[in-house]
Amino acid sequence: MVGAKEPLKCLLPLLMEGSAVGIWELVSWRSVGSKLANRLLGIKVINSLLKKLSKRSRGSEFSKESTHPSDYVEVTREEIEEELANSWKDSKVPQIQFDTYTKEQLENYRRGLSVEPYDVLVRILKDNGLDGKRKRMLEVGCSTGYYSEVLKIKAINSAYSGCDYSESFIEFATRLYPGIDFQVQDACSLTYPDGSFDIVISGCCLLHIMNYEKAIEETARIAKEYVVFHRTPVLHKKDTSYYIKTAYGVKMFEIHFNERELLKLFDKNNLKVIDIITFNCGLEKNSGDFYAYKTYLCMKS
Ligand SMILES: C[S@@+](CC[C@H](N)C(=O)[O-])C[C@H]1O[C@@H](n2cnc3c(N)ncnc32)[C@H](O)[C@@H]1O
Repeated sequence: MVGAKEPLKCLLPLLMEGSAVGIWELVSWRSVGSKLANRLLGIKVINSLLKKLSKRSRGSEFSKESTHPSDYVEVTREEIEEELANSWKDSKVPQIQFDTYTKEQLENYRRGLSVEPYDVLVRILKDNGLDGKRKRMLEVGCSTGYYSEVLKIKAINSAYSGCDYSESFIEFATRLYPGIDFQVQDACSLTYPDGSFDIVISGCCLLHIMNYEKAIEETARIAKEYVVFHRTPVLHKKDTSYYIKTAYGVKMFEIHFNERELLKLFDKNNLKVIDIITFNCGLEKNSGDFYAYKTYLCMKS
């Protein structure tokens, strides 16, 4: 059931702040406990405890990017300049991303070491029996296409295709993995017919798309059976929030979703959440709200 895979390191903020999956609702004196604990420990101390509890793989892009570091500047939706929607299309980004994170992560993964975000995608597919019969699979926001290799390493039996709105990423992916179908496509206006893929993976890209409502609709439309929203940052109580940061030498925005809003959007698009893996969680720096990065597996109903 939803939230069944909250790792140990996420239990602390769940207990402190209450969880969307209702763990804390089981305890009737929640607010007393939360206030007392906040007073005794303080948000900073809790965050540092969480960091210590988090066992992170070396060179993980995810670990470095997913906390709320001081260089995240919170802005309003209106303050995001239009050109930031194209930040990921900058031609220097793929090489920088590859050199900074992907190369080392892939080398580690090939050697059998753990890379947390890779492990999470593999686990959610395997745990739900989606690794056996060959499935037509599309990754939206595939970047340099490294998940094609991740799935192969772990013997996930899939006919993998990838798409990304950046021509430079698609050129890079095609060079790295010749023979795989990579296409330049915008997540908000995919040209694939309805139900083209058994599984569509929204590859940690919703958070970079202003019109995420449309991206969810399109992702659901082209999926026949399942959609995975991989590595999605969610906030428990705070409204959907917008941040500006600099990554790979470019200024870009990131959206962290109010989880209830996100789940309602899934529901609106006939996507029923059947599994969630939560990782990299903590307290949002401005509000102290509980945030987490979650991978959702949805079934089309
Ligand atoms: C953080 S990377 C994720 C890479 C990989 N899927 C993963 O999960 O590690 C986000 C990717 O989404 C792509 N992207 C951003 N906006 C997009 C859009 N509107 N349509 C398609 N891809 C988009 C970017 O170019 C980038 O490659």
